[in-house]
Amino acid sequence: MRQALIAPSILSADFGRLADEVRAISDAGADYVHVDVMDGHFVPNLTIGPPVIESVRKATALPLDVHLMIENPDRFLEDYARAGADVICVHAEACTHLHRTIQAIQALGKKPAVALNPHTPHDALRYVLDDLAMVLVMSVNPGYGGQAFISAVLPKIRALRAEASARGLPLDIEVDGGIKVENVHLVAEAGANVFVSGSGIFGQADYQQAIRDMRKRADIAAGTLI
Ligand code: DX5
Ligand code: ZN
Repeated sequence: MRQALIAPSILSADFGRLADEVRAISDAGADYVHVDVMDGHFVPNLTIGPPVIESVRKATALPLDVHLMIENPDRFLEDYARAGADVICVHAEACTHLHRTIQAIQALGKKPAVALNPHTPHDALRYVLDDLAMVLVMSVNPGYGGQAFISAVLPKIRALRAEASARGLPLDIEVDGGIKVENVHLVAEAGANVFVSGSGIFGQADYQQAIRDMRKRADIAAGTLI
């Protein structure tokens, strides 16, 4: 079984010192840099776009996991690919022609991922699952950092992992929202293997310790570390 991957969300970083913060989590052992793009329409908040992602790209060699919380993401896929995204994640709820969007991400040479809001059933991905590198299960309603984890998504993670295993897919299942060292075991045990954490890492004095503790607790829960 694969080891837990930790994806700190820079939404909780100090944006005034963003390059330093990105370097700090890279040096602290993060596996991905999770970048939250919000458009003020799909979610009630606005964050950053391609120019800032270009700067993040220059500050780290880690893969950039770009989480697009925007309406009509098709219009901007090329921009995010060019800015340096490695994973491009769109929301199922924001894509009318999800299959086409996934093909477009593949054609750009990027890893396609789809995010599901807490209320969206995993079955929405039944006919596209084979084409995905990763599914992102939102464990808060997207829009803000620092919200409380919604445990109702645990059965969805279990169902997705069971479905991926039944199909023999090496699917990454990522969980995003309210993940801390204290609760990461719940989602790891359910079958997630990529863990986004914003306030749970940037809110700690020692990023390295937080990342190490989170990975260890997830690995123990998943049975990859005894
Ligand atoms: C929420 C974002 C998350 C957010 C997570 O819409 O997608 O990535 O930064 O922050 P925490 O870990 O603080 O819930
Ligand atoms: Zn996110």
